[in-house]
Amino acid sequence: MRVQVQLLLWTLFVGLGATGAPEEETRKVSLELNPGSSNSTQNLLHIRAVGNGSTIHYVWSTIGVPTVLLIYTDSDNTDLQVNWTKLLSPEPHGAIRVEPAGHVRYSTALLFTRIFEYKEVNNTADFSGTDGKFFYPPYELSEFTWASARDSLNSSALTARLTGVKATDPAGSFSNGSVAFQVSAFESSGRDASSPRLLHNANCTKMEFLLSGVQPRGNNSRFALEMVTLEKKGGRKKLRSVHSIDDEYTPTIFEVMELVPDFPNGSHAQGYFQWKSVAYGAMEGGRADTLPCKIYQPRDLNETFRIPSIVHAFYGENLTDNYNLEAYNVSFGIADGDFYDKKHFLGWSAMIGYGTPPRDSFSVLVICIMAVALGTPLVLLLVGTIVVSVIRRRRIVSQYEPLN
Ligand SMILES: *[C@@H]1O[C@H](CO)[C@@H](O)[C@H](O)[C@H]1NC(C)=O
Ligand SMILES: *[C@@H]1O[C@H](CO)[C@@H](O)[C@H](O)[C@H]1NC(C)=O
Ligand SMILES: *[C@@H]1O[C@H](CO)[C@@H](O)[C@H](O)[C@H]1NC(C)=O
Ligand SMILES: *[C@@H]1O[C@H](CO)[C@@H](O)[C@H](O)[C@H]1NC(C)=O
Ligand SMILES: *[C@@H]1O[C@H](CO)[C@@H](O)[C@H](O)[C@H]1NC(C)=O
Ligand SMILES: *[C@@H]1O[C@H](CO)[C@@H](O)[C@H](O)[C@H]1NC(C)=O
Ligand SMILES: *[C@@H]1O[C@H](CO)[C@@H](O)[C@H](O)[C@H]1NC(C)=O
Ligand SMILES: *[C@@H]1O[C@H](CO)[C@@H](O)[C@H](O)[C@H]1NC(C)=O
Ligand SMILES: *[C@@H]1O[C@H](CO)[C@@H](O)[C@H](O)[C@H]1NC(C)=O
Ligand SMILES: *[C@@H]1O[C@H](CO)[C@@H](O)[C@H](O)[C@H]1NC(C)=O
Ligand SMILES: *[C@@H]1O[C@H](CO)[C@@H](O)[C@H](O)[C@H]1NC(C)=O
Ligand SMILES: *[C@@H]1O[C@H](CO)[C@@H](O)[C@H](O)[C@H]1NC(C)=O
Repeated sequence: MRVQVQLLLWTLFVGLGATGAPEEETRKVSLELNPGSSNSTQNLLHIRAVGNGSTIHYVWSTIGVPTVLLIYTDSDNTDLQVNWTKLLSPEPHGAIRVEPAGHVRYSTALLFTRIFEYKEVNNTADFSGTDGKFFYPPYELSEFTWASARDSLNSSALTARLTGVKATDPAGSFSNGSVAFQVSAFESSGRDASSPRLLHNANCTKMEFLLSGVQPRGNNSRFALEMVTLEKKGGRKKLRSVHSIDDEYTPTIFEVMELVPDFPNGSHAQGYFQWKSVAYGAMEGGRADTLPCKIYQPRDLNETFRIPSIVHAFYGENLTDNYNLEAYNVSFGIADGDFYDKKHFLGWSAMIGYGTPPRDSFSVLVICIMAVALGTPLVLLLVGTIVVSVIRRRRIVSQYEPLN
């Protein structure tokens, strides 16, 4: 009886979930390195995700600072065009275009500019202030040399890796280590197999920022990453914190952070950057190696913007006239947590996508727990009511029997 009611509740929940979910969207995804060029000393990775009536182009490049462009077009027949002569010239404006340009509905970019290494005197992990911290000279990612992504490109797994080391490294910090951006694309929805088990769909791509084997400059080193993002004038990026109630996949991490466009005119353009507030201090991403991460208030970069990046090639010379640029810091690690020194590894994952950011819904496990929790009292109540009424009826019947 109890099992039956629980089964009933369970099928009810699952049924609701199944009917409530929209039809699964898929895209045909292809990866191409350096389209239109046979020279592999530079990296320009083009991810093309073609859906029904739309194409999302992702362009990752290490020409300048590592940058990703997201270009959404409302046609399934748009092309990326790169003029390599222009792109590698000092005036790259207009070297990267999407044709026909009239189909471009939305675009944004994310640049990874600097890595900060700092020593915590009293292990407070408060990155925002300057008290009690000693900053080593930051690693400017524009001064790195990047290996060709050719060998890492896997067209069936839809992954590629951009790996870089500091160009001039007298201290030898990078002699056995590197900074890498591991990029993955997806043809349909799902959940990552590796921690922090992020959700994805066909509209998004994943990036993993990896700092591995780099020699820290002190025993108490922690790291932070500086990024720059842009949005059309009139709008800007908004930081949003979403609390997930279901932490089955990343125990104790409930917070999902999102950078989304915010237009006062109510424009619904949506390019998002989403991550869980956690990084990992070991490759395996185990529970013992979690490093909570924190994002800080942005700084406006609206004056002169000289950071070398493919954004100049795509957005043209008057970038700052037409776009708001903002820089954000993300720091990894908390007070009393482990230092980078422990395993010489730091890994942080995030999703970059178009549309509605993926959201955790209740997992089957949680639904089962809820069904048991809700079902048990309900069954007890039902059984109780039945038993009581049966006993009552029996009593009433037995009381009246003698009279008959
Ligand atoms: C590739 O490009 C680099 C500069 O970006 C140049 O020095 C090199 O000669 C080129 N190689 C080939 C094979 O064209
Ligand atoms: C594409 O979308 C249109 C309307 O949005 C629909 O009518 C059509 O069946 C879809 N085609 C495919 C192949 O899914
Ligand atoms: C590429 O750019 C160069 C330099 O700006 C220009 O001379 C050339 O015509 C361009 N090529 C194409 C195919 O547009
Ligand atoms: C670190 O902690 C010690 C002892 O608590 C204190 O005396 C010192 O001022 C602190 N240093 C900084 C830079 O906060
Ligand atoms: C590409 O990835 C697939 C799936 O992860 C793997 O089986 C295959 O060996 C990879 N190919 C190369 C060339 O690494
Ligand atoms: C280089 O790194 C690997 C793995 O991170 C480690 O096993 C190896 O001992 C390191 N080698 C040197 C010379 O530090
Ligand atoms: C780092 O720790 C090692 C071993 O614990 C010690 O030998 C070394 O002196 C420390 N280095 C610094 C800069 O504190
Ligand atoms: C809102 O403003 C942005 C940037 O100025 C513009 O691209 C967009 O079309 C506007 N949306 C609406 C609904 O007016
Ligand atoms: C640049 O940003 C600052 C801070 O938000 C603001 O005060 C200033 O007016 C902006 N300048 C321009 C030219 O938009
Ligand atoms: C950029 O701005 C300058 C000066 O405001 C102007 O002369 C030029 O035509 C603009 N370029 C583009 C591509 O709009
Ligand atoms: C990030 O933090 C470093 C070190 O405190 C600081 O120099 C830099 O200006 C910060 N960047 C932003 C965007 O706040
Ligand atoms: C993916 O992009 C399409 C536009 O091509 C949009 O209609 C859809 O809502 C997006 N999906 C999600 C999950 O955001």
